[in-house]
Amino acid sequence: MKHFVVALIGAICLVGGIQAAGTVVDNVAGNLTIGINTFNANVLAFNATITAGDALIRQAFNNWNATMLKNVTAIQQRFQPYTMLSTNGITSILSNLAMVNIMPLASDPTLQSVNTTVQSQIQQVATALNMAALNITAQVNCTNTFSINCMIKYGAQLTQKPILVSRFGECFTNETARLAIVAQNISTSINTTLAFTQTLFNLSNICTIPTVAQLTPPANSVNFNTPSTQCINQYLSGLSQIPTYFSFADTARWTQVNLITQRIQRCATLVQYDITDSINRVQNSFGTCLKTGV
Ligand SMILES: *[C@@H]1O[C@H](CO)[C@@H](O)[C@H](O)[C@H]1NC(C)=O
Ligand SMILES: *[C@@H]1O[C@H](CO)[C@@H](O)[C@H](O)[C@H]1NC(C)=O
Ligand SMILES: *[C@@H]1O[C@H](CO)[C@@H](O)[C@H](O)[C@H]1NC(C)=O
Ligand SMILES: *[C@@H]1O[C@H](CO)[C@@H](O)[C@H](O)[C@H]1NC(C)=O
Ligand SMILES: *[C@@H]1O[C@H](CO)[C@@H](O)[C@H](O)[C@H]1NC(C)=O
Ligand SMILES: *[C@@H]1O[C@H](CO)[C@@H](O)[C@H](O)[C@H]1NC(C)=O
Ligand SMILES: *[C@@H]1O[C@H](CO)[C@@H](O)[C@H](O)[C@H]1NC(C)=O
Ligand SMILES: *[C@@H]1O[C@H](CO)[C@@H](O)[C@H](O)[C@H]1NC(C)=O
Ligand SMILES: *[C@@H]1O[C@H](CO)[C@@H](O)[C@H](O)[C@H]1NC(C)=O
Ligand SMILES: *[C@@H]1O[C@H](CO)[C@@H](O)[C@H](O)[C@H]1NC(C)=O
Ligand SMILES: *[C@@H]1O[C@H](CO)[C@@H](O)[C@H](O)[C@H]1NC(C)=O
Repeated sequence: MKHFVVALIGAICLVGGIQAAGTVVDNVAGNLTIGINTFNANVLAFNATITAGDALIRQAFNNWNATMLKNVTAIQQRFQPYTMLSTNGITSILSNLAMVNIMPLASDPTLQSVNTTVQSQIQQVATALNMAALNITAQVNCTNTFSINCMIKYGAQLTQKPILVSRFGECFTNETARLAIVAQNISTSINTTLAFTQTLFNLSNICTIPTVAQLTPPANSVNFNTPSTQCINQYLSGLSQIPTYFSFADTARWTQVNLITQRIQRCATLVQYDITDSINRVQNSFGTCLKTGV
C-alpha cells in the first residue's frame, strides 16, 4: 500500500511535470510568435510612413521639376533673339535640370538595412529564449520536489516583461512620427528652394536688356540699344546653379534619416542586451530555486 502511494505520487508528479513543462515551452513559443507579429506590424507601419513620405517628396519634386522647366524655357525663349549672347549658359542649365532627381526614402540603404539587422537580433533573442525554456524544463524531475514549482514560476517569467520581443517594435514605432516629419521637412525645403529660385529669374532685370525691336536701330542712328552682354551672360551662367540649390535643399535629409536609423539601431541593441540579460537572470534564479525552493 505504502509503495503503491509513493508510486502513485511519483506518477502524478511525472505526468504533472511533463504537462507543466510542455506548457512552459508552448507559452514561450506562443508569446514569441505574438511578439514577432507585433514587431512585424510596427515595421510595416514604419514602411507605410516611408511610402507616404515618398509620395509627399515626389509631389514637391514634380512641382519643382515642372516649374523649373517652364521658367528656364521661358528664359531661353526670351534670350533666343539676342544672338550676341553666349548660349552655353542656357543650354547647360536645361541639360543639368534633366539630370536632377530625388532618391526615394524607400531606396535609402540605411533604412533598408536597419530592418534586416533588427530581424537578425530578434532571431538571436528567439534562439536564446527557446533554449532557456528547454534548459529550465530539462532540469525538472520528481526527485527534486521544488523543481515543478520553480519551473512554473520562472518559466512564466520568460513570457513577461522585460522578456518581450515586441519591445523591438517600439524602437521603430518611436521613430515613425519623426520619419514623417523628416519627409514633411524635405518636401517643405524643396518648396522653399523653388520659391527662392523664383527670385533668381527676376534678377535678370538688373542687366540692361533692350527689347527685341530695339536691337535693330534705325539705319542712320547710333546704336544705343546693345544689351549688357557681360551682365546677361553672367546671369545665364548663374542659372546653372539651380540644380545645386536643389541638392542643398535635399541634402539636409541625410543627417536626419541617419539619426533615425541610428536611434532605431541603438534602441534595438539595448533591447537585445536587456532581454538576453533578463533571460540569463531567470535561468540563474531558477537554478537557485532548485536548491532553495524560492
Ligand atoms: C503567453 O504566456 C502566458 C503565460 O505567461 C500564457 O498564459 C499565454 O497563453 C501565452 N500566450 C500564447 C499565445 O502562448
Ligand atoms: C514597403 O513599402 C513598399 C512601398 O509601398 C512596398 O513595395 C513593399 O512591399 C513594402 N514592404 C513590405 C514588407 O510590405
Ligand atoms: C515659373 O513658372 C511658374 C509656373 O508656370 C509660374 O507660376 C511662375 O510665375 C514662373 N516664374 C517666373 C519668374 O517666371
Ligand atoms: C523632370 O521633368 C522633365 C520634363 O517634364 C521630365 O522629362 C523628367 O523626367 C522629369 N524628371 C524626373 C526625375 O521625373
Ligand atoms: C524586414 O525584413 C524581413 C526579413 O528580412 C522581411 O521579411 C520583411 O519584409 C522586411 N520588412 C520590410 C517592411 O521591409
Ligand atoms: C533531479 O534534478 C536535480 C536538480 O534539480 C539533480 O541534481 C538530480 O540529479 C536530478 N535527478 C534525477 C533522477 O534526474
Ligand atoms: C518610446 O517612447 C516612449 C514615450 O516617449 C518611451 O516611454 C519608451 O521608453 C520608448 N521606447 C523605446 C523602446 O525607445
Ligand atoms: C523639421 O522642421 C522643423 C521646422 O522647420 C524643425 O524644427 C525640425 O527640427 C525639423 N525636424 C527634422 C527631424 O528635421
Ligand atoms: C509643396 O508644394 C506642393 C505644390 O505646391 C504642395 O502640394 C505641397 O503641399 C507642398 N508641400 C509642403 C510640405 O508644403
Ligand atoms: C518678378 O518681377 C515681376 C515684375 O518684373 C514681379 O511682378 C514679380 O512679383 C517678381 N517675382 C518675384 C518672385 O520676385
Ligand atoms: C541552464 O540553467 C542553469 C541554471 O538552472 C544555468 O546555470 C545554465 O547556464 C543554463 N544553461 C545554458 C546553456 O544557458
